[in-house]
Amino acid sequence: MYGNAYIDPNDQRGKTIEGEDPVLLAEFEARILAGEKIEPQDWMPQLYRKQLIRMIEQHAHSEIIGALPEGTWITRAPGFRRKLALMAKVQDEVGHAQLLYSAAETLGKSREAMINDLITGKSKYSNVFNYPAITWADSAIIAWLIDAGAIVNQLANSKGSYGPYCRALERICYEESFHLKYGHDNVVHLATGTPKQREMVQDALTRWWPAIMHFFGPPDTISVHTEVLMKWKVKMMSNDDMRQQYLDMYVPKIWDLGLVLPDPNLHKNEETGKWEYTEPDWEEFKRVINGDGPCNAERLAVRRMAEEKGRWVRRAILGEKANYTVPFA
Ligand code: COA
Repeated sequence: MYGNAYIDPNDQRGKTIEGEDPVLLAEFEARILAGEKIEPQDWMPQLYRKQLIRMIEQHAHSEIIGALPEGTWITRAPGFRRKLALMAKVQDEVGHAQLLYSAAETLGKSREAMINDLITGKSKYSNVFNYPAITWADSAIIAWLIDAGAIVNQLANSKGSYGPYCRALERICYEESFHLKYGHDNVVHLATGTPKQREMVQDALTRWWPAIMHFFGPPDTISVHTEVLMKWKVKMMSNDDMRQQYLDMYVPKIWDLGLVLPDPNLHKNEETGKWEYTEPDWEEFKRVINGDGPCNAERLAVRRMAEEKGRWVRRAILGEKANYTVPFA
C-alpha cells in the first residue's frame, strides 16, 4: 500500500499515487502485470515517472562518473594492449551514460537539468565511484567485480516495464560482459603473477570489498523505494536478493584464485541456501552517497570542469552565438 507513509512534503521527487485516475491506474497496472512494456507516450502515474527519472538519472551519472577512477589508469596501464582495452572500456562507460540520459529524457527531464543536478551535488550516483583507484590492481578489481555487480543489477532490470530503459540496459549488458572478461583476465594475471602482483590484487580486493557490498543498496528492511519499484517492475530484484545472487556467482570465483575476502563471517548457510556475512558499515555508505566520501569532491570537480570547458562546443552546435573569448582557459 502506498498511503501516507510515502508522502513527504519536503520531497519533490513524488512518493504518492494519490490523486491518480483510478481507472487509468488500474489499466496501467494490468499492463505491467501482463508483462507489457510502457512506452514514453503511454499514460503513467506521476510516481512511476518520477521514480524512473530518479533511478535512470542516478544510473546515468554513475556511468559517467564511473569512467573516472579507471580513466586515471589509461596513461599508466601496463602495456599497450591493456591501455587500448582500458580506453575502449572507459569509452563504453561514457556511452552507457549517453544511452541512459537519453532514456531519462523520454520522461521529460532535460539532459541539461540532469547534468546540473549532478554537478551541484543534488543527484546521487553509485557509492563505489567515490573511492580512489590507488594501484593498477584497483582498476582490475573495478573492471571485474564492480562490472559484475552492475551486470547482476542490469540483467534483472532489463526485463522490467519501461521500454526505453530496458532497451538501453540490454545493450549495456552486452558491453559490460566484455568488461567483465577484461577485468577477470587482469585479476587472474595479477593473482597468478609475482608475489608483489598477488599482494597488490589482494590489497585492492580488501579495500574494495565493503564498497562492493554497499553497491546493491541498503538492506531490504530499510530500502525506501524497493516496494513501489518492484510492484511496477522497474526493479526486478530486491537489494538483498541481488547481493545474494552476486555472492553466489562471484565468491567461489574469488576463492578459486586463492584470494581472501575481508569478512571472516562470510559463508553460505547450506540449510537456508543464503550467504551470511558481516553487515558492511551502513553509516559510511550514507556518508559516501550524500557527498562525504574520499573522492566525491574530486569527481564532481572533474565533471564541473568538463561542463565549463565544453560549453562553447554545445553553444556552437546549437547555433547560438558562440562566445569564444576563453574556450580553453
Ligand atoms: N550508491 C548510491 N546511492 C545508493 C546506492 C548506491 N549503491 N544504493 C542505494 N542508494 C540510494 C538510493 O538512490 C536512495 O536514495 P534517494 O532516495 O536519495 O534517491 C537511497 O539510497 C535508498 O535506497 P533504496 O531505497 O534501496 O533505492 P533503490 O530502490 O533505488 O535501489 C539501486 C538502489 C542502486 C539498487 C537502484 O536504484 C538501481 O538498481 N539503480 C539502477 C542501477 C544503477 O544505478 N547502478 C549503478 C552503477 S552501474
